[in-house]
Amino acid sequence: MELLKLLLILIAVLSNIHTMKSSEFLVHEYYKEKCPLAEEIVRHNMEVAIFKDPRLAASLLRLHFHDCFVMGCDASVLLDSVEGMTSEKQAGPNLNSLRGFEVIDKIKYLLEEECPLTVSCADILAMAARDAVELRGGLRWDVWLGRKDSLESSFSGANLFIPAPNSSLHTLINNFKQQGLDVEDLVVLSGSHTIGRARCVSFRQRIYETKQEYHYGYDYDHYKRYTTFRRILGSICPVKGRDNKFAPLDFQTPKRFDNHYFINILEGKGLLGSDNVLISQDMDGKIREQVWSYASNEKLFFTSFAKSMIKMGNINVLTGDAGEIRRNCRFVNT
Ligand code: HEM
Ligand SMILES: *[C@@H]1O[C@H](CO)[C@@H](O)[C@H](O)[C@H]1NC(C)=O
Repeated sequence: MELLKLLLILIAVLSNIHTMKSSEFLVHEYYKEKCPLAEEIVRHNMEVAIFKDPRLAASLLRLHFHDCFVMGCDASVLLDSVEGMTSEKQAGPNLNSLRGFEVIDKIKYLLEEECPLTVSCADILAMAARDAVELRGGLRWDVWLGRKDSLESSFSGANLFIPAPNSSLHTLINNFKQQGLDVEDLVVLSGSHTIGRARCVSFRQRIYETKQEYHYGYDYDHYKRYTTFRRILGSICPVKGRDNKFAPLDFQTPKRFDNHYFINILEGKGLLGSDNVLISQDMDGKIREQVWSYASNEKLFFTSFAKSMIKMGNINVLTGDAGEIRRNCRFVNT
């Protein structure tokens, strides 16, 4: 009798744990029954948007990153400013830089027609980032879904947690560690800079830094090749002015999602300071090894990238009863 009671309690506890889990974590095919066309609608609209403006692939991939690094992947980055709350869009790393919000608006509008209050803005960002990579030639992965949207944004968080392009390797490593991401995630996710562009203000310091500032621990050849490249960059981006002139992050294949980023940084031809420090400040050679393996094996880069994107997409997600499904990604529901 006692044993039976104990067994029943045990079963109750175990099944409780199980139901807790299914509402607390992200799953594949979250919308299979709730909104069967969700992934297709996102994918189709990404195709249309990227056909018109290929750079939007890069911009939407970056939006997901900037969302996840501030309070988690909760679509906080999509909120517009309202009285008493300045948007993340106004923060230093995002202002005049983040783009692609209209694509999310359109997708959200169509999803609200198809299945009202069902698909979160945070999930749209995760799906759009996945589709962006695939549509530019990268590998598709199964995206985990079931995120809820935040009720607030964090202007200060965006200034604090989005890494700056002039960060040292040490700073970048710590920045990613704060998000639960390790050095390998940092390196493989930096491979996103195989598509898209940066403004002159983002890479000026890297052109005009002195030889002392350039930590050329690697070898001297590396430094010399870098100065030739620097002349080319200098013609786009002078010491003063032309702040908003663009250069492609990957000069070789700017529109293709491929492993060229890693070949570039081995040659000292990463556009941003943060790209170059991966090699120039890597004193024990561990990162260089990882970079070499991606530079010589694109497939390995693709599978590692997908793994780290899924990890990034899991940062502090709101699930279950937390947060809400926004009706309009720019505003919390009233
Ligand atoms: C490692 C730290 C990183 C730093 C310091 C950094 C910094 C930057 C900067 C400064 C730009 C150019 C912005 C501008 O000038 O307007 C940029 C562009 C971009 N970043 Fe990063 N980034 C980092 C990591 C990442 C990660 C993890 C991803 C994606 C998972 C990513 C995806 C992109 C993309 C796709 C673009 C091009 C956007 C466009 O063309 O619209 N970055 N990044
Ligand atoms: C990075 O750039 C910012 C803004 O341009 C500047 O204020 C800061 O001092 C720079 N940091 C380093 C380490 O150079």
